[in-house]
Amino acid sequence: MNVRITGTGSSLPGKILTNAELETLIDTTDEWITTRTGIKERRIAADGEYTSTFAAEAARRALAMAGVEPEEIDLIILGTVTPDFPFPSTACIVQDLIGATNATAFDLSAACSGFIFGLSIAEKYIRSGAAKKILVIGSEILSRIVDWQDRNTCVLFGDGAGAVVLEASEGDHSLLSTHTFSNGTYWNLLYQPGSGSRNPATDSRTIDERRIYLTMEGNDVFKHAVRAMEEAAVKALDANGLTTSDISLLIPHQANQRIIDATAKRLGLDSGRLFTNLHRYGNTSSASIPIALDEANRQGVLKPDSKLMLVAFGGGFTYGSALINW
Ligand code: UT7
Repeated sequence: MNVRITGTGSSLPGKILTNAELETLIDTTDEWITTRTGIKERRIAADGEYTSTFAAEAARRALAMAGVEPEEIDLIILGTVTPDFPFPSTACIVQDLIGATNATAFDLSAACSGFIFGLSIAEKYIRSGAAKKILVIGSEILSRIVDWQDRNTCVLFGDGAGAVVLEASEGDHSLLSTHTFSNGTYWNLLYQPGSGSRNPATDSRTIDERRIYLTMEGNDVFKHAVRAMEEAAVKALDANGLTTSDISLLIPHQANQRIIDATAKRLGLDSGRLFTNLHRYGNTSSASIPIALDEANRQGVLKPDSKLMLVAFGGGFTYGSALINW
């Protein structure tokens, strides 16, 4: 049984926060952010907008493109590190919002690799016959866990969601492979110290000592990200007997233009075969790849039978790839 992406969707907050506006909030410059990251602006959720809000809208758009009714969905997998609540899963809230009454729903915690890990699980459900129609979503409101006093991190992240519908298919337009990896040695280079069981939100020190916010050793993460994304991409190529020259488009996790360029260079991919949108959205973690995939799809960039590579890296560390015959 093959696994086809039959619909893509995305949803972003309306509010745009530009580098120029950030210059008025913290000690930074548009020039620094642009040259070090490639980011020009990001979207920020408004009061009353939650991770489930954007996840549900992205899912509705993916379902509409696929021509699939919510009741037909067997499984909802939602990658997020910024759920609406610690529990229940945001996937269950999305199930309720979209009326996917016959689905099993759960969240997946793999940071920026959440969407690729979700695709990998969904692929196995479908190939085994356990499910026929699956929603895989990445959705984040990172603006609510970044420290707006920390210029090292707050300029990097943004909010939004992307989703795909996967269906069992007899044809060749299919996921060819997914590969997932973890390296827990480095869990503390990129994490949110507070609000879990070690530094509970119920302990006032978690707030007072600013442990509630995301923290990152940017330089170290940068080096690991480039090596890991190359490794994940090469694993996918080798598993399918392909080379870089067979790849029509690479959609990498959108964290930093320099990471993307360095990864592409190591793979021998020219910039014409790279899809990026991080200048408009910043790093949206698990949402970055499905948002970019939806934009590439709706812009007509993806041609039938072209080979599409998705590659991600994130906290954990986690990393992975998906190769698709579109
Ligand atoms: O999504 C999961 C994976 N995440 C990533 O892949 C992110 C990986 N890391 C990165 O993208 C980059 O490491 C950063 C963009 C975070 C930082 O870039 P960098 O080239 O590694 O800069 P740096 O950390 O070496 O900092 C250089 C300087 C420092 O000043 P000094 O110590 O050299 O005087 C920082 O204080 O830049 C300073 N700096 C800033 N200056 C202006 C840090 N943030 C800012 C800022 N504006 N926003």
